[in-house]
Amino acid sequence: MSDIRIRAERPDDREAVYDINAAAFPTETEARLVDHMRALGGPTVSLVAEDDDGVLGHALFTAVTVNAGERDADAGLMALGPLAVRPERQRDGIGGRLVQSGVEACKAAGAAAVFVLGPAEFYPRFGFEPAQDRGFFFRNRQFDPHFFVLPLKPAALEGLSGEVVYAPVFDEA
Ligand SMILES: CC(C)(COP(=O)(O)OP(=O)(O)OC[C@H]1O[C@@H](n2cnc3c(N)ncnc32)[C@H](O)[C@@H]1OP(=O)(O)O)[C@@H](O)C(=O)NCCC(=O)NCCS
Repeated sequence: MSDIRIRAERPDDREAVYDINAAAFPTETEARLVDHMRALGGPTVSLVAEDDDGVLGHALFTAVTVNAGERDADAGLMALGPLAVRPERQRDGIGGRLVQSGVEACKAAGAAAVFVLGPAEFYPRFGFEPAQDRGFFFRNRQFDPHFFVLPLKPAALEGLSGEVVYAPVFDEA
């Protein structure tokens, strides 16, 4: 395996990022979602993994809010998703590298926490905890076993709990 590098997405990565998301997920929903979020702008961290053969994986982190009666748009909350690695290159550590680099980028940007909806076999190894333990949930409690949070500034989360709300395009995609 040639050296894997993680770097910020560039404009000329758009097609490769679309292809990776379309190949990794059953439908093109996630690929389109990434395009929509890119068009909206806003606070995002979008990373790619590449080697000498090209782009192998992609991770998107976008801003979310907590709907706790009143919206807290300034809490610096981010959510990871989608995360995708080319099917033929999965289980080689690339997804993990993207998660770790993305979390570091969110931390450097001053984020208080990163949420993720995903497999319990994957995310706890990076320090993600069940979000329900801190009073956060995604849409409804049925997602509790799959919804995680990684606190980056635990003090900033004190007194904050409730539904974690993603950008509307996540519902429309
Ligand atoms: C999920 C994904 C990004 C992981 O990337 P990756 O490069 O394969 O991950 P890594 O090699 O860093 O880690 C692999 C480990 O994660 C586990 N893992 C990965 N995806 C998993 C899943 N969907 N369910 C359970 N475990 C999973 C593997 O069992 C493996 O564990 P092991 O090392 O103990 O054997 C990749 O499998 C993928 O693109 N999947 C399809 C898209 C998807 O489901 N993304 C959303 C996840 S929220």
